[in-house]
Amino acid sequence: GEPPLDELIASLTVDVPDHPEPGILFRDLTPVFADGDAFRRMVEGLAAPAASDPRAAAVAESAGRDFDVVVGVEARGFLLAAVVAFDRGVGVVPVRKAGKLPRERVVADYALEYGTATLELHADSIRAGSRVLVVDDVLATGGTLGAAIELVERLGGVVVAVSVVVELTALGGRERLAPHTVHALWAT
Ligand code: PRP
Repeated sequence: GEPPLDELIASLTVDVPDHPEPGILFRDLTPVFADGDAFRRMVEGLAAPAASDPRAAAVAESAGRDFDVVVGVEARGFLLAAVVAFDRGVGVVPVRKAGKLPRERVVADYALEYGTATLELHADSIRAGSRVLVVDDVLATGGTLGAAIELVERLGGVVVAVSVVVELTALGGRERLAPHTVHALWAT
């Protein structure tokens, strides 16, 4: 039969030591994306945060629907968020790095595992009260997803869950994002 999804993702991920800086172990997920079976299972898993998440399950039960829109974080989150949104029949909204969005936007600075950066979200992209699933590939320190959540909430969106492929547990991202619930397909 099929291997469990976490084992499949782990087996296809390539660890790259000292990238992009000395001391950083980079988890390269591109081979997981490139594998058709793994990609399909990964997207299905990301689209179903309620399956492993009591808070998201409660929201889904009371609302009859998990989420109204998917937010993806540049750049690798885009590859996932668009397909999750398509699979669930909802729209997809990009959280982008500085200088990419042309219209009125909300802006958040954040510290990355390596360096600092800025994320932006179009001000009219999330309706107040909209239920939002936030998707990215990796949860490391949680700086990136914390900033993405902040932007969604500043527009009045309700983050029902955060879905990631890989959670690097030693970096404390889950704790940093609390009380938001993190749905990770593989925790390592
Ligand atoms: C990586 C990854 C997450 C983030 C996780 O993105 O895709 O977005 O870092 O790190 P954190 O939890 O410590 O914030 P990166 O900034 O390298 O951008 P990219 O996807 O555009 O390459």
